[in-house]
Amino acid sequence: MLRFLTAGESHGPALLGIIEGLPAGLPLAPEDVAADLARRQGGYGRGARQRIEADRAEIVAGVLGGVTTGAPVALRIANRARPELGDAARAPRSVPQPGHAELAGALKYGFTDVEPVAERASARETAMRVAIGAVAKKLLGAAGIEVVAYVVAIGEVSVEETDVPLEERAARADSSPVRCLDPEASRAMVAAIDAAREAGDTLGGIIEVVAWGLPPGLGSFVHPDRRLDARLGAALLSIPAIKGVEIGSAFANARLRGTQVHDAIRLKEGGIVRPTNRAGGLEGGMTNGEPLVVRAAMKPIPTTLRPQPSIDLAAGTEAETLYRRSDICAVPAASVVAAAVVAWVLAEALVECCGGDRLEQVVERVAAMRGEMRRGRE
Ligand SMILES: Cc1cc2nc3c(=O)[nH]c(=O)nc-3n(C[C@H](O)[C@H](O)[C@H](O)COP(=O)(O)O)c2cc1C
Repeated sequence: MLRFLTAGESHGPALLGIIEGLPAGLPLAPEDVAADLARRQGGYGRGARQRIEADRAEIVAGVLGGVTTGAPVALRIANRARPELGDAARAPRSVPQPGHAELAGALKYGFTDVEPVAERASARETAMRVAIGAVAKKLLGAAGIEVVAYVVAIGEVSVEETDVPLEERAARADSSPVRCLDPEASRAMVAAIDAAREAGDTLGGIIEVVAWGLPPGLGSFVHPDRRLDARLGAALLSIPAIKGVEIGSAFANARLRGTQVHDAIRLKEGGIVRPTNRAGGLEGGMTNGEPLVVRAAMKPIPTTLRPQPSIDLAAGTEAETLYRRSDICAVPAASVVAAAVVAWVLAEALVECCGGDRLEQVVERVAAMRGEMRRGRE
């Protein structure tokens, strides 16, 4: 069983992560994590913090001689933007931002100062989830499985379909300031972010995550908590500000008839093929051998330059929010987080199906599962 825990505040000394259950023999170095951490910090529309600190993950346990040993892997990302936490002189902040965790968190824990809530609810925590996801991607990569995410909508600018080959999507996302595959849409998205900034406002959007090289049969239908669609949904919805998830073309499918939606099962050149993939690579809570396609909807960033109506928890009066340093649009960054959490769920399912002791056992078992795709001919 693969599992992880994270700890750390936005302005505390560091973020910590522990991964337990990784097979022994996986080559792992800080550089494996660095590129995704940089991707999360990039993206047009992010705030000042991303320029203050370049994230770097340190591997502090579980790796000897550059490979995993089977022991828990511990990661640490130092925070450099850390002035005020624990500082008695810090002014309390008692006006919660609508759309943030601050009001519900303050009511839950009995605070009038919302800062302790914001410190942990902040998406700073997703830096560690990106690092953990990069480790998961490394495991998936060793088994021939790739995961990529990109932006398909920001505000009202959207790209509905893409014909960019799967293998080229990561590089195309990296070359766009908003991690969108379409250069023209990228420019329109940048302009939409500029217009929102000018208006003192923020934007959300939609992310698509694709994974391929998946053997059929990851996940299971035998119990609700083993269904991969449910686990992917939970993982994506655990990202702050992600409020909707779509598997395959689920919302369009809902408006069509069964014979228009369900992907035919055919035989070709000795193997099972699916001419279409409206199911997004999942049937019965399991991978079916087709690419996994999931989308996530992100709401606009809660903190806006323009004040929003709120209350002062200390004074017991109505009040307006005061602006704090914040992102205008974090959909490109959230796409990196989305790829990380999807990679994590797939890595969990891989270890469940293929064993978690040694990397070579995982790789052998994945090859055997892929062989099942050819059985249709026998
Ligand atoms: C990568 C990323 C960056 C974010 N940056 C900000 C930000 O700068 N300001 C802000 O108010 N919310 C930001 N958010 C969203 C809040 O963290 C989120 O809305 C808040 O924690 C409340 O959780 P909920 O939206 O899931 O209900 C960001 C989210 C992500 C994924």
